[in-house]
Amino acid sequence: MKIADCYNFNDFRKLAKKKLPSPIFHYIDGGSDDETTLRRNTLSFDDCDLVPNILASVGKPDLSTSVFGRKIDMPIFLSPSAMQRLYHPEGDKASAKAAAKFGTFYSMSSMANNTIEEISNISSGPKLFQLYVHKDKSITDDLIERCKRSNFDGMCLTVDTLVAGNREKDHRTGFTTPPKLTMNSLLSFAMRPAWVFNYLTGKRFELANVSKKTDKGTNIAKSVIEYINEQYDPAMNWKDAEYCVKKWGKPFALKGVMSVDDAKRAIDIGCTAIMVSNHGGRQLDGSRSPFDQIKAISDAVGDKLEIILDGGVRRGTHVLKALAAGAKACSFGKMFLFSLAAGGQQGVEHLLQNMHDEIHRNMVLMGCKNLGELNSSKLIYRK
Ligand code: LAC
Repeated sequence: MKIADCYNFNDFRKLAKKKLPSPIFHYIDGGSDDETTLRRNTLSFDDCDLVPNILASVGKPDLSTSVFGRKIDMPIFLSPSAMQRLYHPEGDKASAKAAAKFGTFYSMSSMANNTIEEISNISSGPKLFQLYVHKDKSITDDLIERCKRSNFDGMCLTVDTLVAGNREKDHRTGFTTPPKLTMNSLLSFAMRPAWVFNYLTGKRFELANVSKKTDKGTNIAKSVIEYINEQYDPAMNWKDAEYCVKKWGKPFALKGVMSVDDAKRAIDIGCTAIMVSNHGGRQLDGSRSPFDQIKAISDAVGDKLEIILDGGVRRGTHVLKALAAGAKACSFGKMFLFSLAAGGQQGVEHLLQNMHDEIHRNMVLMGCKNLGELNSSKLIYRK
């Protein structure tokens, strides 16, 4: 199987599974507790159906929209995702270049292995930075200042990870950063010599944006769960978020908003966007899915904020449903991380091309000339 044979999420997932040692694959693939929310995130799209209109002179539909102050060529982008160096030697550089080529956002995690400056130097495409409020506030301030100097377009503050979710797969596989060879995982590393070679001979693993400020979680074997619980402030509140919004002064989203009340409050503190997200089902298991919440949130605040659906997207039709329910764009993590692991920049480009073609084709089949025509009249819920 090769990249050209990947038509959908499962194909990329299968190829990634062949290339990655099992602790790394399961870190991407897994959710928290019983993974109910992880499954629900995608299943929720099946609770409604698209209603096409015919003979609408569509021709070539316009897939462009704008988020975080930048026009993007299609209503999807790459979610911020940590430690991409584990999935491919090029890490964030591969994702950033692929996203720029498709005229859409690449997002950098606070836990990236490349620096803000490195990525800014190689990509003039749309760039979003994902922030955590660290216990050591000088780290948060430093990240914001550097993103300003490096011309990032937007910033999102993750608000659903005050403590790490219970990812039992990570406990079982002994997933650590950098990876630690345990008895359980040794065999799967041994069976992936190409990965091991690249890891050992490539750029040193580090959380590149914070390694000068803290020695924690950089070159010490430590689990992601431990790192999050040690570094991030579990007492973060609305005042902290407002401080970040003001300090940044450009388009800003809270990432992890799930309730209508919180969406309204995001407007009060100056946010221009929200990412409706449950962290890909990796945090609060039993949480509603983003798609289940989009309509209510959009009815309440859709004219005042950009609403981004993050989580569960596997198909172009999921994006169409999210937009018809009130989202402005969708982002996804797992799907693109599998494509990155499967084939680096070329893998991510292949995925973005597939998704572009799916969205284009289905817009034509829906009878929609532009994304604005995807509204609630195009969607019927079954119950
Ligand atoms: C995770 C954090 C790092 O989900 O975003 O693992």
